[in-house]
Amino acid sequence: MSTLEIHDLQVSVETDQGTKHILKGVDLTINEGETHAIMGPNGSGKSTLAYTIAGHPKYHVEGGSVKLDGVELLDLSPDERARAGMFLAMQYPVEIPGVTVSNFLRTAKTAIAGEAPALRPWIKEVRESMTALRMDSAFAERNVNEGFSGGEKKRHEILQLELLKPKFAVLDETDSGLDVDALKIVSEGVNRAKDRTGMGVLLITHYTRILRYIKPDFVHVFVAGRVAEEGGPELADRLEEEGYDRYVAAADAGVA
Ligand SMILES: Nc1ncnc2c1ncn2[C@@H]1O[C@H](COP(=O)(O)OP(=O)(O)OP(=O)(O)O)[C@@H](O)[C@H]1O
Ligand SMILES: [Mg+2]
Repeated sequence: MSTLEIHDLQVSVETDQGTKHILKGVDLTINEGETHAIMGPNGSGKSTLAYTIAGHPKYHVEGGSVKLDGVELLDLSPDERARAGMFLAMQYPVEIPGVTVSNFLRTAKTAIAGEAPALRPWIKEVRESMTALRMDSAFAERNVNEGFSGGEKKRHEILQLELLKPKFAVLDETDSGLDVDALKIVSEGVNRAKDRTGMGVLLITHYTRILRYIKPDFVHVFVAGRVAEEGGPELADRLEEEGYDRYVAAADAGVA
């Protein structure tokens, strides 16, 4: 069984005002097939955690480890991490001018699999996934994310997820900006990928809405750079009702 194990992860970034410590000892273990939701206030470090797992060069690891089946991901380059089975759906997907969706997907698949996929079955798979995500086939010939609406960008992230079949996927606010129908379509895409591959999912969200479609096994409250509480799905409902005040107050008291 595959396991992603984050232990005492500490991360900082360099800013104009000096070094800013963002992650202050994150502990989190995800087994394959499990879905973990992370909820927490703005600026608590959720995206920083996602980027650090993926290997964004801006984030400096000060300590701790991120191991996939015992292999230290922090020692690997971002593309090696992807080949090892990690996937990140970004909160703000970036435009790639001059690269079409179709080219991008095939290049990514080739890089991760180590060989180019056979053309006919590949084209069929891409078409089927795009249809399931209600993406017009014209998107295949458009440049990645250029002029895409917010919701279209999110669908394109999940299209990659379906085609690249990672062991673990980090989904950073994949639900933000989606209309009610798109939320259902995108969630179904995630669930299809889960059913087919048995992947583990780390789902960062502000809303319980998406958790009605993608059922979490565990919910983690993320405050001030670390996990402040863990529980089952019922914790998400409590957070939506009560907010984060008591966690934030406790974190402030810890710092004082
Ligand atoms: N490159 C950077 N330079 C300066 N500050 C940064 C940088 N990256 C992150 N930060 C700061 O680190 C903190 C955590 O940011 P992060 O994006 O991880 O939060 P988040 O929990 O994802 O918030 P949100 O819910 O709003 O998406 C914020 O205060 C942010 O301003
Ligand atoms: Mg974020």
